[in-house]
Amino acid sequence: MSSLPRCVCPVAEEASAPRLAGAEASAALAALHAEAFPPAERWGADALRLLLEMPGAFALLVPGEGFVLARVAADEAEILTLAVAPAARRRGVGGRLLAAALARALAGGAATMFLEVSVANEAARALYGAAGFAESGRRRRYYADGSDALVLSRRLCGS
Ligand SMILES: CC(C)(COP(=O)(O)OP(=O)(O)OC[C@H]1O[C@@H](n2cnc3c(N)ncnc32)[C@H](O)[C@@H]1OP(=O)(O)O)[C@@H](O)C(=O)NCCC(=O)NCCS
Repeated sequence: MSSLPRCVCPVAEEASAPRLAGAEASAALAALHAEAFPPAERWGADALRLLLEMPGAFALLVPGEGFVLARVAADEAEILTLAVAPAARRRGVGGRLLAAALARALAGGAATMFLEVSVANEAARALYGAAGFAESGRRRRYYADGSDALVLSRRLCGS
């Protein structure tokens, strides 16, 4: 698609390396999600466990700081959620989680990564823009507060 950005290789960094987390970590993931999101948008441990049990789903965790949950289906991948605790923000955790998810999705056979983000979420939009994501669609009034969702995507290296 012409709207997709050019390929930019994800770069893994050394500090606080994200590690794979399975369903046994769902309570820790829920605690981080509750710190990162307002009450109406929080995902509980049971919901996170169910998501993690979907084929192709994986979570990457920096304990006590943040996590990303994503899934790969055929040649497409999707970020389901990305959460960094307020005390850990602006120290590169979100960027490292995103880079690790991109690398794992590529290794899993994905050619393109998609995600949805509120048009009002300036922090996340800045993070995704810096990581090479570009707008490829919009869902009107998608969120409970009436804001639109932007559908962002980027190609993965090797595709
Ligand atoms: C969005 C979020 C994951 C960013 O995590 P983070 O660890 O603070 O991000 P990083 O430190 O890796 O930031 C990387 C870049 O993203 C951009 N960015 C991150 N937060 C920003 C902010 N509040 N304002 C502007 N730009 C921001 C900057 O370009 C930043 O680079 P810089 O710090 O060198 O300027 C975090 O704010 C969060 O969990 N928010 C609540 C949950 C959420 O909105 N998740 C995404 C849903 S789609």
